[in-house]
Amino acid sequence: MFDYLAPIYDLSLKIGNRYSATPVLKNVEFESGDEVLDIGGGTGYLGDLMKKEFNLEYVVLDSNKKMLSKSKQKNIDTMILGNALNLPFKDQSFDMILCVDALHHFMEKTRALEEMKRVLKDRGKIVILDLYPYLFLTKIISWIERRAGEESEFLTPSEISRRLGLETDSFKVNHFQFLLKAKK
Ligand SMILES: C[S@@+](CC[C@H](N)C(=O)[O-])C[C@H]1O[C@@H](n2cnc3c(N)ncnc32)[C@H](O)[C@@H]1O
Repeated sequence: MFDYLAPIYDLSLKIGNRYSATPVLKNVEFESGDEVLDIGGGTGYLGDLMKKEFNLEYVVLDSNKKMLSKSKQKNIDTMILGNALNLPFKDQSFDMILCVDALHHFMEKTRALEEMKRVLKDRGKIVILDLYPYLFLTKIISWIERRAGEESEFLTPSEISRRLGLETDSFKVNHFQFLLKAKK
């Protein structure tokens, strides 16, 4: 599905900015020099905006080559073709993990969450943005994504929190989406 979406993905994000980048930019604080890993970071759209606002070392990891190739045109420090289920980093490598509109695509979510925890430094933060699972809109999106051959299972913030086993805080950023922050 993302092979086809890659050429138009940034345009869709510009139109729908308030459903992806804006909630993260508005609600997340960074320290200068933080090492950030954006898992399922796609075209690097969010990273490019982040780097304009903050002094960060920003890594985008994505499993889709065409999506990732779009981040070459952006101000991203490192782009890695890889799988969220098997992150190619040492334990405790990052100050912050971002996962925006991507967790629902991962096949084994518990494993992906464990991997996030593993590569996160002590006192680091995980930030996850996704749709509430119980909405009619989410069910339609999930149906379309599955028809397109994608994994598409949305978790509630409390389920993510339970699987992470970390101190978390989550809140509604609009009618459809939540932002969850977890601290190690
Ligand atoms: C809906 S896009 C979101 C992209 C970006 N986070 C954003 O908000 O613009 C989901 C991304 O997750 C990636 N993805 C899906 N499964 C993945 C996996 N197992 N490991 C890494 N990336 C994955 C897809 O290739 C796609 O780029």
